Amino acid sequence: MASGYFVLEGCDAAGKSTQIRLLAALLEARGYAVTVVREPGGTRLGDRIRAMLLARDDDERVEPFTSLLLFNASRCQLIEGIVKPALREGRIVLSDRSFISTLAYQACAEGVDPLFARELCLRAIGGAMPDKVFFLDISVEETGRRIAASRGTFEEKDSRYDLRAAAFHAKVREGYRAQAAAFPGLIETIDGGASVEKITELLSTAILAHVTKTAFP
Ligand code: TYD
Repeated sequence: MASGYFVLEGCDAAGKSTQIRLLAALLEARGYAVTVVREPGGTRLGDRIRAMLLARDDDERVEPFTSLLLFNASRCQLIEGIVKPALREGRIVLSDRSFISTLAYQACAEGVDPLFARELCLRAIGGAMPDKVFFLDISVEETGRRIAASRGTFEEKDSRYDLRAAAFHAKVREGYRAQAAAFPGLIETIDGGASVEKITELLSTAILAHVTKTAFP
């Protein structure tokens, strides 16, 4: 069976969704069954949690610990309801974000206890560890440029997270780097400043190598 669970991670506007779209088309053209998901969201309850987390319609402060719980509630629904069944059916799952986002955003950038965050995340995924996580790394300046350029084009880009200052993005980026060191076999860092075509080529080569190895060991 040619299944596999692959995640794209990165700061806001790192190009994850573009790459996932291209990768899904490429893999489907080669005959693989592909399921695309994103976090938070992806289930009925998860989409409601997503709307709550990204809403800007009031100025109530959201506690980092509250975010930690809500992101993991959405995650648990997605993994049990969509990801695990897809993997059992021999599909390739491409996910826009994962528990690594929680460790970068809530633990490293927002200051939630990292050990507790890690423990909660591991419980939320219930053993469904990704086969590979690709961290699309772009500079904080580039993050700011891309967010500014996209504002007004996509409504969701106007989320509370996109409006945070450069200092926040710098902390998130540091968080990702720390996670790449903490999970060396799992997380691969990719230069997100490279061309879209180059990144797609790197990612598809890595995914196909992994899938082929698992299906025909
Ligand atoms: P989204 O509009 O999907 O942004 P992006 O296209 O950059 O993925 O919004 C998701 C936001 O939620 C994003 O700013 C990162 C944040 N987030 C967390 O803080 N913790 C998490 O565990 C996850 C999955 C996302």
